[in-house]
Amino acid sequence: MANPREVAVLVGSLRKDSLSRKMAHVLIGLAPSNLKLQIVEIGQLPLYNQDGDANPPEQWAAFRARIRAADAVLFVTPEYNRSVPAPLKNAIDVGSRPYGQSAWNGKPGAVVSVSPSVIGAFGANHHLRQSLVFLNVPAMQQPEAYIGQADKLFDGSGKLTNDSTRNFLQEFIQAFAAWIEANRGARD
Ligand SMILES: Cc1cc2nc3c(=O)[nH]c(=O)nc-3n(C[C@H](O)[C@H](O)[C@H](O)COP(=O)(O)O)c2cc1C
Repeated sequence: MANPREVAVLVGSLRKDSLSRKMAHVLIGLAPSNLKLQIVEIGQLPLYNQDGDANPPEQWAAFRARIRAADAVLFVTPEYNRSVPAPLKNAIDVGSRPYGQSAWNGKPGAVVSVSPSVIGAFGANHHLRQSLVFLNVPAMQQPEAYIGQADKLFDGSGKLTNDSTRNFLQEFIQAFAAWIEANRGARD
């Protein structure tokens, strides 16, 4: 078999007991063997400031290199005030610069939004998609993943306890594998 596609997983929450991070780990466990999912941390990134483009902090350079090396990107995020949390927006901005050298350009992507609320962080999911349009990240449209009532989905050790959610996530990650193959452009 060819090498698995490398998928950079970005988790929008920095919280230790984050539901989004638990969800990311579930997706890592459900991924088919032709995908290799790895979380790329974002909490260490200094706030983006265009003045830094001339002499970027090493954390920016390392993050950009991780994203460039990936075949695809998967965002697993909560919603803060009907949008994406600031650390995730910061990571998106860091990866998008310097102008003309965006690390995101052309990488197939997908979005999973996670919330204790029944709305499933729809607002964050779609705010994020707005940025992905501009960044030329073809974002998988179906299935959509708005994971609501996420505080009721895990046991104390972070294991997913809801079978229908597991089945849905399995379908989602398999669809994403097909999406990556269909949208990977010139990376082969
Ligand atoms: C600053 C802040 C704003 C929030 N705004 C929203 C919101 O707009 N919609 C929502 O569904 N939940 C909102 N929440 C609740 C989060 O969904 C909840 O804290 C969730 O567990 C955070 O994700 P995590 O578990 O991955 O850290 C907010 C939480 C915080 C701390």
